[in-house]
Amino acid sequence: MSGERVLFVDHTGQIGGAELILLDVVQGRNESSAFLFEQGPLAKALSDRGLSVITSRWGIGLPRFRRDSSWLKALPLAGGLAAITAELARLARRHDVVYANSQKAFVLAAIANVVARKPLIWHLHDIISPAHFGAMQRRTQIFLANRFATKVVVPSEAAAAAFIEAGGRRSLIEVVPNGLSVEPVAVSRQELRQRLGLPQGPLVGVFSRLAQWKGQHVLVEALARLPGVHGIVVGDALFGEQDYAAQLKRQVDALGLAGRIHFLGHRGDVPLLMQAVDVMVHPSIDPEPFGRTLVEAMLAGVPVIATDAGAAPDILEHGRAGMLVPPGDARALAEALDTVLAEPAVLEPQLAYASRRARSHYSLARMLESIGLLIRNVRAGAAV
Ligand code: UDP
Ligand code: GLC
Repeated sequence: MSGERVLFVDHTGQIGGAELILLDVVQGRNESSAFLFEQGPLAKALSDRGLSVITSRWGIGLPRFRRDSSWLKALPLAGGLAAITAELARLARRHDVVYANSQKAFVLAAIANVVARKPLIWHLHDIISPAHFGAMQRRTQIFLANRFATKVVVPSEAAAAAFIEAGGRRSLIEVVPNGLSVEPVAVSRQELRQRLGLPQGPLVGVFSRLAQWKGQHVLVEALARLPGVHGIVVGDALFGEQDYAAQLKRQVDALGLAGRIHFLGHRGDVPLLMQAVDVMVHPSIDPEPFGRTLVEAMLAGVPVIATDAGAAPDILEHGRAGMLVPPGDARALAEALDTVLAEPAVLEPQLAYASRRARSHYSLARMLESIGLLIRNVRAGAAV
């Protein structure tokens, strides 16, 4: 059990990859609290881990404020924003450290810190670049980070480079690769598919929330070029991307792929589903800050084809631990899939290497140790 009273702050009540990391980080921190801007499953998950959870009464609408929106669009929310900031400042005073786990959480925590004056950690799970954020938002984030953050934790060198490129101070950065701990189950792929009701032929999968930049539509296009290959699309629209989800389903129907592409929605058994496919595809069209699903597939012993941008080339060691294709290129993806599906045996050495690499570079224990140390040092006011 750790002694620091940490106020963990997140803008969302949903559980995406950043929140799954948060749920690991808070383990054993019973003295700590979490402040969320909205209700949702994250509140219960945090409280199940022993934290006292406070949900803002004022956050309605803020989680849907888009990353490329100008701050002008936030004007109607100004009253709510001010109220959340005041709530945050009040709560921060009762804690030793404030730990913002999302961009919106950080912006308000930084403003609240003008009065609260507590050590402030920003766990930045995003790539601050024009592909992901509008100019005003980038400038605001960087200004606030340089002025008020004690440390900025990023999961990859790619996220660190983007932060610095956008004007962020290098000395603030602490690269802590995301860590995961998933053991594959000892069961054949065939048996798993029977158990899960999945088709027995060539089967590929994508396992991300449905969002334009996650690029599921590129996989759909690629599968249109590969007759006989089935695909599972696992995940749902978590952060206001319902239009994209509907468009994806229309695309599948229009291409006549409804019999081959199966939408499974959000699932709680991703590691099992991953073990059941022949290839895991990670088709993000914009640079991925990390990509937990890459490591999950490496641990599951499943071949990975990912787009060559953001953290993916680093995690996959430029092709030694998985295959890389250019982002947004359905033809290249189809060719890569064809190669991997045609000769799976050729990949055995790569799979064993990928699994070793995932264990050595992306272990949960190591991530928790680094973040624990950081929180301790930040509280003690030590130069980290
Ligand atoms: N995930 C899940 N159920 C789903 C789809 C995804 O539990 O239906 C998990 C997935 O296994 C991964 C996380 O959500 O651990 C997504 O994290 P990632 O870093 O890949 O991307 P993010 O969505 O955070 O950008
Ligand atoms: C974000 C990023 C994803 C990363 C996750 C955890 O949701 O999009 O790439 O793996 O946070 O850091």
